[in-house]
Amino acid sequence: MAVERVEMSDNPLKADFPALAQTMNGKVLAYLDSASSAQKPNVVIEAMRSIYEDGYANIHRGLYRISQDLTTEFEAVRSKVAAFIHADGPETIVFTRNTTEAINLVAASWGRTHLKAGDEIILTEMEHHANIVPWQLLAQEKGVVIKTIPVLGDGTLDLSSLYALLTEKTRLVACVHISNALGTVNPVAEIIQRAKTYNPDIVALVDGTQSVVHQKVDVQAMGCDFFAFTGHKLYGPNGIGVLYGRKAILDSMPPYQGGGDMIESVSLDNGTTFKAPPHRFEAGTPAIVEVIGLGAALDYMAVTGFDAIGQQEEKLKGILDKTLADIEDVIIYGPAPDHKIGITSFALKGIHSSDVSMILDQCGVAVRSGHHCCMPLMNAMGVEGTIRASIGLYTDENDIIQLRDAILKAKDLLA
Ligand code: ALA
Repeated sequence: MAVERVEMSDNPLKADFPALAQTMNGKVLAYLDSASSAQKPNVVIEAMRSIYEDGYANIHRGLYRISQDLTTEFEAVRSKVAAFIHADGPETIVFTRNTTEAINLVAASWGRTHLKAGDEIILTEMEHHANIVPWQLLAQEKGVVIKTIPVLGDGTLDLSSLYALLTEKTRLVACVHISNALGTVNPVAEIIQRAKTYNPDIVALVDGTQSVVHQKVDVQAMGCDFFAFTGHKLYGPNGIGVLYGRKAILDSMPPYQGGGDMIESVSLDNGTTFKAPPHRFEAGTPAIVEVIGLGAALDYMAVTGFDAIGQQEEKLKGILDKTLADIEDVIIYGPAPDHKIGITSFALKGIHSSDVSMILDQCGVAVRSGHHCCMPLMNAMGVEGTIRASIGLYTDENDIIQLRDAILKAKDLLA
């Protein structure tokens, strides 16, 4: 017998997110698009509101109390971020706008400085465009060669190909930790270890955008040189991202953008000298309030704890995947549940994904459909796009029941 929606949520964390109490098209909102951007808890909204109301000023510049207090608060978040990913200090944490800007920073600064024509970069076929296009731009500029690890039919990486791709010209391996389109969890530590065993000078970059949301990350244990993620998928504000870089590698990199706050001295006659990292890479007034909001999101994650988050998400992932698998004509893309987190891509046989998503919208269900900024992956899978349902720490069984009922309705209307 079909499971019915119940009045009470089985997830107490849901009440911390005011936006989830709204309706969409007259229906209770079932928000299943957290991989795109997550909703924000009250503590994040409150932390940001209170800065604007109770003590806003620019930072790193004012000798007055509000500016100095906010500077201290801002820099404390840098230490909090370092602890969150087990980096070896706040000086390894650069604030950026998002993951995209973090990777562009690496390509523009490290890439332009350290790569030359003929050098090789290894990516994977399942990268988000943010971890492809900056390297393509660099390849055009410098004559660098891009190679890719293919994706297997089950949505995992063909790691056996890595050995064939590695050569004495390989300079960088850049890989997504968890696929935003399929939820595949890639064995990044193993990939890095294989690359560095082949040649310890190969630099490793990990796109951790989806992974920091769902599991405890330890950049030192992972062995990466760079790790990038964004605040808005981590229950924090948008407009703030993070680039972790090993201290020695950041020290070897020139500025990415020039302006205020990143300089030591500027002279029209003698040129400019720059601060040490991370400030060397943070030109202009930073996203002050967003950084404080990110700090509040990390506090929220810490109080909730990855054990509790993991348990709830693991349960919901199982329910989501079984619910979809039980619907006739649903095609699921991607790996078996034990190789993925709660992101599932699917299609309804013979029906365009956008048409299904529009019916889902009418039923109050928010999902993403299309290529998910992963056109090469879609191409490898032989599809134009998919419908993607993704869970967050606030997702409950009701959301999935509502998704199932909406898919059944779409089938009725469109099949
Ligand atoms: N990268 C975001 C997604 O996967 C926008 O939807």
